[in-house]
Amino acid sequence: MRLFDVYPIQDITIVKAKGSRVWDQQGQEYLDLYGGHAVISIGHTHPHWVERIKSQLDQIAFYSNSIRIPLQQELATKLGVLAGKPDYQLFLCNSGAEANENALKLASFHTGRKKIIAFTKAFHGRTSLAVSVTDNKNYIAPVNETENVIFLPFNDATALEACFQKQGNEIAAVIIEGIQGVGGIHVAEDSFLQTIRSLCTQYGALYIADSVQCGYGRSGKFFSHDYAGVNADIYSIAKGMGNGFPVAGILIAPHIPAKHFQLGTTFGGNHLACAAALAVLEVMEQENLMNNALRIGNWLTEQLKQIPVLKNVRGRGLMIGFDVPAALPELKKNLLSRQHIFTGEAKPNVIRLLPSLALTQADANQFIGSLQLEIQSSSL
Ligand SMILES: Cc1ncc(COP(=O)(O)O)c(C=O)c1O
Repeated sequence: MRLFDVYPIQDITIVKAKGSRVWDQQGQEYLDLYGGHAVISIGHTHPHWVERIKSQLDQIAFYSNSIRIPLQQELATKLGVLAGKPDYQLFLCNSGAEANENALKLASFHTGRKKIIAFTKAFHGRTSLAVSVTDNKNYIAPVNETENVIFLPFNDATALEACFQKQGNEIAAVIIEGIQGVGGIHVAEDSFLQTIRSLCTQYGALYIADSVQCGYGRSGKFFSHDYAGVNADIYSIAKGMGNGFPVAGILIAPHIPAKHFQLGTTFGGNHLACAAALAVLEVMEQENLMNNALRIGNWLTEQLKQIPVLKNVRGRGLMIGFDVPAALPELKKNLLSRQHIFTGEAKPNVIRLLPSLALTQADANQFIGSLQLEIQSSSL
């Protein structure tokens, strides 16, 4: 059997990883500023994470959600404290798309309404509802086409107010990434998130903060939405939550009651997933990784802004994007092949940095040095 060829991929096989470093089959070392697509939060193969998963594996890896799994409550309690949402409720699942799918379903159940507001360049995942609120026609199969989704321009409060005035009583939810990732690192303005909050409250709609990529400490605060001083009704989380172990969830505000059988999952919140997620939170706390993300992220952003050919340096914490000039079309490719540095991208010309929150100052120095070298040699 062949693999279904869904992505163009790099011809590299990674066989070993530690912290912000990975090694290929030939023993070549790489600096990882892509974090396996914003997934590696505490660093590859962190010893505490490895140990917690190993010892959990020796006890029990999985049993269904039909029994008590105390690790789930342990995770919910710890997450509530670190995220600053101790009174929220946690539903666990397996991926970012699934988290958003459940968030949107819950909003519809709760409000009894069907319409969802989403924004231009949004990416919320590949499953049926998540892809319907994703602004890319290439991902939407005919069966996912729906009239229930209204796309509005990102950061345009006037358009949002007009939409609520016209059909506010039909809106179940507004879903928004605090910082758009796949769309190219676009930060939602604080005032825009505040407008979403007040309109949702006024019209009885739910504010869903997709924090799959921009959440879990990446921005320097637990949720990038926290910069606006607002509380969303539902936060979706995934990626960094397990540091590579598939685990995801939604944080649900206390005013939304649970009803039996509306949501459910076989694998979500299994013993191993909880152990991995707990290990991540423990390391984030012990190593003060949110502060590190802010400090190193700010430093990187300042350095990048001083490189004249790079335009529109933007982002928060360790979620950074910049526009690559037309004169350097191969920059990302050359960073990988010549400088041995993984970075992310967003079409057509954005480099995205999504490293581990434990990125060191030495790693950051190396990146800036190599980037400058690459830009100089490419410009010759
Ligand atoms: C903001 C956002 N939401 C949802 C998803 C979907 O997550 P997953 O690929 O785990 O389903 C992604 C993935 O990149 C994302 O960036």
